[in-house]
Amino acid sequence: MTNTARVSVPGTTANCGPGFDAVGIACTIYNDLELTLNSTNQLTIDIVGEGREFIPTNEQNVVWQAIKMVLDRTGIKYQGAHIKMVNNVPLARGLGSSAAAIVAGLVAANAVTGESMTKQELFELATEIEGHPDNVAPAIFGGITLSVLNKGRAQCLSFMPPAKLTMVVAVPEFTLATSASRNVLPKEVPYKDAVFNISRTALLVGALTQGEFGHLQCALEDRIHQPYRQQLIPGLQDVFRAAKEAGALGSAISGAGPCLISFANQNEEQIGQAMVSAFNTNGIRAKYLLLNIDNQGARVVGQ
Ligand code: HSE
Repeated sequence: MTNTARVSVPGTTANCGPGFDAVGIACTIYNDLELTLNSTNQLTIDIVGEGREFIPTNEQNVVWQAIKMVLDRTGIKYQGAHIKMVNNVPLARGLGSSAAAIVAGLVAANAVTGESMTKQELFELATEIEGHPDNVAPAIFGGITLSVLNKGRAQCLSFMPPAKLTMVVAVPEFTLATSASRNVLPKEVPYKDAVFNISRTALLVGALTQGEFGHLQCALEDRIHQPYRQQLIPGLQDVFRAAKEAGALGSAISGAGPCLISFANQNEEQIGQAMVSAFNTNGIRAKYLLLNIDNQGARVVGQ
């Protein structure tokens, strides 16, 4: 057993339009974490970067709770711990900050306890904590992930598309809690909307695996969450329209929002500027990020 582990975990975008709670993509933006088990008899947490003023630095911290689950499972005795977090993933914006925190804690704790859990076991535990698998899957496995809960057990397939695909993410200044964004969803959806989403999700997976990105405009359409959530994101339709006019292959809400994501294989800067400008026109300050697909997922970068 070693005392210290450093891990790097990608941010993620979930749903990708119709693939609600199932499709996710690991993005080239990272949260870094260093965990040291020590004999101080206390927990200390330093946070640098995104969300530092909002994230608890006591036992309530999500990263610590994830670490503790692994320590308790493995029966490792510890006295104190120091956690250093360097966060680049914007907090509560739909880029998987909560999944990144959970996965970072689990992977770091697994590293200091001698890698006793497999990636699949970490994925199942992370899904249990997060409640749905679509952000934790790409955070762990990297690539584009397709996840299901099979009799309560999380199962995932990960792949990379065969051609370049860039993600242009418009990040508005306001935050949106996933719980608030899930609260506006109906308990049931019309049968024809379910069929609509099944056909788009099938086309989406085919388009991504084959590199047939011309299908994305249609394949990203959704009727089971975005129509209900758009009231929470002022200017959503204007941002989507601006992205399309600037050459985007298609757009969607990133995860539970409020980030909006466009897929592109050219004109990325113009698309980002157009999306930000459309948010601005609706009175919302925003910036944009140009991200690629991370193909590794969470990794231990030092011990
Ligand atoms: N699938 C989730 C949602 C992702 O849309 O609510 C956000 O955690």
